Amino acid sequence: MKKVVMLVAMVAFLAVATVAFCNPAAPAGDISMKGPKKGAVNFSHKVHIEKAKISECKTCHHTFKGEGDPQKCSECHKLKKDGKALDIKTATHKQCKGCHKKSGNKEAPTKCKACHKK
Ligand code: HEC
Ligand code: HEC
Ligand code: HEC
Ligand code: HEC
Repeated sequence: MKKVVMLVAMVAFLAVATVAFCNPAAPAGDISMKGPKKGAVNFSHKVHIEKAKISECKTCHHTFKGEGDPQKCSECHKLKKDGKALDIKTATHKQCKGCHKKSGNKEAPTKCKACHKK
């Protein structure tokens, strides 16, 4: 009986350790996203993971397979629509503003100047 309990405990521990190991850490510092015209947009993983409580990297990094680091949006979403990939403005506005509006959270900005700082 004791052996079974030990085995179950070990399997449980390994499962937890594997999940913790496979979910890569998001960058701790803020990221500045800048296009050619508008002011830079400051993005914080800390705010989105800790305050907005978004647990899945894939919610935003929608092409991320869970290995290595996710790619920048701009690696696929260019200034002009490219194949199936929307242009960067439409893609980010759809994802960022879309969620901000839906969340109904007053701390989630929807006005141009609240995101694009000078
Ligand atoms: C929730 C945050 C957010 C809001 C609100 C927002 N934007 Fe953006 N916008 C972004 C992000 C992120 C990008 C992609 C990074 C970049 O290219 O600046 C972007 C890109 C752009 C771009 C293309 C890049 C460039 O510099 O030409 C334009 C133009 C733009 N936004 C205009 C606007 C205008 C006008 C408004 C208000 C009607 C607005 N944005 C509101 C986040 C936001
Ligand atoms: C709320 C949306 C959101 C969530 C959730 C999110 N990220 Fe991000 N992440 C972004 C944005 C936006 C960028 C900036 C992309 C750009 O500059 O084009 C970024 C950038 C990154 C970068 C830097 C990429 C580079 O090449 O500079 C890494 C690494 C990263 N994220 C990892 C993660 C991991 C790991 C998770 C899950 C634990 C995660 N992110 C969750 C939105 C998000
Ligand atoms: C590896 C390439 C790649 C990366 C990286 C990427 N995208 Fe996309 N994205 C695409 C392609 C291709 C499509 C169109 C086909 C689809 O929906 O999968 C798309 C579709 C979208 C859509 C439209 C989905 C819908 O509702 O129709 C949004 C919004 C979007 N991307 C935002 C982002 C944001 C924001 C980032 C960065 C956090 C990002 N993407 C990173 C390739 C990419
Ligand atoms: C899935 C939902 C979701 C997505 C996607 C999302 N956000 Fe947010 N964001 C939130 C919520 C919720 C808050 C308010 C958090 C709080 O309670 O303070 C927030 C807050 C913010 C803030 C204000 C806090 C700060 O960091 O200064 C900024 C700026 C912001 N988001 C930018 C972005 C940008 C840029 C993107 C897209 C690249 C994005 N967000 C994508 C949900 C989202």
